[in-house]
Amino acid sequence: MDIAQLRREYTKKKLSKKSVKKDVIDQFNNWLEEAIHANCLEPTAMVVSTISERNTPSSRVVLLKGVEDGGFIFYTNYASRKGTQLALNNGISALFFWPEVERQVNIEGAIVKCSPEQSDAYFKTRPWKSRIGAIISPQSQPIESRNVIKKAFVLEAAKHLGETVPRPEYWGGYRIIPTRIEFWQGRASRLHDRILYTKKADNTWQIVRLAP
Ligand SMILES: Cc1cc2nc3c(=O)[nH]c(=O)nc-3n(C[C@H](O)[C@H](O)[C@H](O)COP(=O)(O)O)c2cc1C
Repeated sequence: MDIAQLRREYTKKKLSKKSVKKDVIDQFNNWLEEAIHANCLEPTAMVVSTISERNTPSSRVVLLKGVEDGGFIFYTNYASRKGTQLALNNGISALFFWPEVERQVNIEGAIVKCSPEQSDAYFKTRPWKSRIGAIISPQSQPIESRNVIKKAFVLEAAKHLGETVPRPEYWGGYRIIPTRIEFWQGRASRLHDRILYTKKADNTWQIVRLAP
């Protein structure tokens, strides 16, 4: 198959400076709701990119678990590859792609850790097996085989039968505090709409249109 000839026209929606919300978080929440209602497969999935100590970027998908205090929350293992990179450099980007509505949102900013109380509160809402999984998985470390994880799961599960599973201190939330958010709406003939919000010194947001 000649993938260079795979093409799709984007014609579903439009975006303009006039149509967007003044507040960037209101604008994001609007689009997230529309993505959910459009039955996007994983509307809360975002590609987060971090920077290694050698200044190379690395990316992976995580799930957005809340938009609070002007920031975007996700949960992970603090000792994972992304976690160790974020400990050295708190810069991050998060990218949503919602093909069903021909949209992408690109967020840039810096990370802060959620409070232990907030991470505890979310951890408690996770399914029991996922909580056991979070405890036993040395996320991003090489392991000999799948069996290693399976055995560790069974051993750990036996310790917590009928009990609440405590959150390990190496697992918790991050909040992305945005400084730049771009909303991209696919349009016909590749003349897409791009509206960029940039945070100003007085904490208000400047809104400009970018060329496609
Ligand atoms: C749809 C989807 C959702 C995911 N959600 C999370 C998540 O919320 N937290 C997480 O730590 N990993 C999540 N993962 C796994 C990550 O993509 C990644 O493999 C893992 O966090 C390890 O990344 P790292 O080695 O770069 O730290 C998800 C993967 C997919 C495909």
